Amino acid sequence: MEERVKEIEREVTGFLVKTKVDLENFRMKFISKKGEVSSLFDDLKSASVEEKKKLGKVLNDLKQLAEGKFKLMQETLESNSADSTEQIDLSLPVIPNKTGNLHPLNLTRYRIIEIFERLGFNVSDGPEIEDDWHNFTALNFAENHPAREMQDTFFVEKPTRAEGGGNPDVLLRTHTSNVQVRLMKNQKPPIRSIMPGRVYRNEAISARAHCFFHQVEGLYIDKNVGFADLKQTLYHFAKEMFGQDTKIRLRPSFFPFTEPSAEIDISCLICHGKGCNVCKYSGWVEIAGSGMVHPNVLKNGGIDPEEFTGFAFGMGIERITMLRYSINDLRLFSENDIRFLKQFKAVV
Ligand code: PHE
Repeated sequence: MEERVKEIEREVTGFLVKTKVDLENFRMKFISKKGEVSSLFDDLKSASVEEKKKLGKVLNDLKQLAEGKFKLMQETLESNSADSTEQIDLSLPVIPNKTGNLHPLNLTRYRIIEIFERLGFNVSDGPEIEDDWHNFTALNFAENHPAREMQDTFFVEKPTRAEGGGNPDVLLRTHTSNVQVRLMKNQKPPIRSIMPGRVYRNEAISARAHCFFHQVEGLYIDKNVGFADLKQTLYHFAKEMFGQDTKIRLRPSFFPFTEPSAEIDISCLICHGKGCNVCKYSGWVEIAGSGMVHPNVLKNGGIDPEEFTGFAFGMGIERITMLRYSINDLRLFSENDIRFLKQFKAVV
């Protein structure tokens, strides 16, 4: 019998338990009432008193060994979720990850870029903190010209002489037209570029105005660029952006850096010309300022106005986004209200 005990002991130690099925087999073989260890205890009943004393202890040790191993393997298998016998239902639908979505202003910006890229425009960038020359002077704003007041400017605090002086005319750009100047300085015509970016004006915040907003500037300079090119480009843009039956209207306007200048209106998308509060009952909404680049601006940019001409335009991304999605309050764009933002999952 001692031989048999030793043999079972070896079997218990050598038994490989890798799955829950193995564990159950182990339990049946060694621990259950009909298992090997129990049957040894049964055999013990018919043994002599002396043998009972001797073997009783050995059998109890064996029983503890088997039960200990069972417990340990059970715990290990339970904590191991990669158990190969675990049932995984591959047909269950996946719970989608909650990803963020693009800001509506970015959706509009990407769409604008897409439309102009197809016309051969590239995308350029310029600084938001700008000097007076690039924001005003080079764009033909005279020193005390009232046009400077059209755009209430945030000036960056002037460094005192004691602090080492520096450029006293640093400001937050009031429009993206500063990038026009930088492009002309750095590139030779033909130039065909759009310049999206943030601009700043010292205005009271309301549903219709904000102290910062976004523009996309456009500039096309080459030989023989005419007003018809400007008109056709913006007409194409309006149709691509707002639908093929959109109409445009050009109104004479004034900007120091363009001559002649025109404001671009599109037919109202909300009432289709019948009159509503979005178009202030006129049937038209303004989307951009534009014009032929003033010869002085070309000169300031190092381009000969006798050889080259060009057109420029600047449009507000907020305004276009509001028309696109029927949004009636500009402040929504910068308040970060997730209930507002998560509605814009639409394709670009
Ligand atoms: N910079 C002008 C504005 O901010 C827009 C504009 C750009 C007009 C280019 C004409 C040409 O209002």
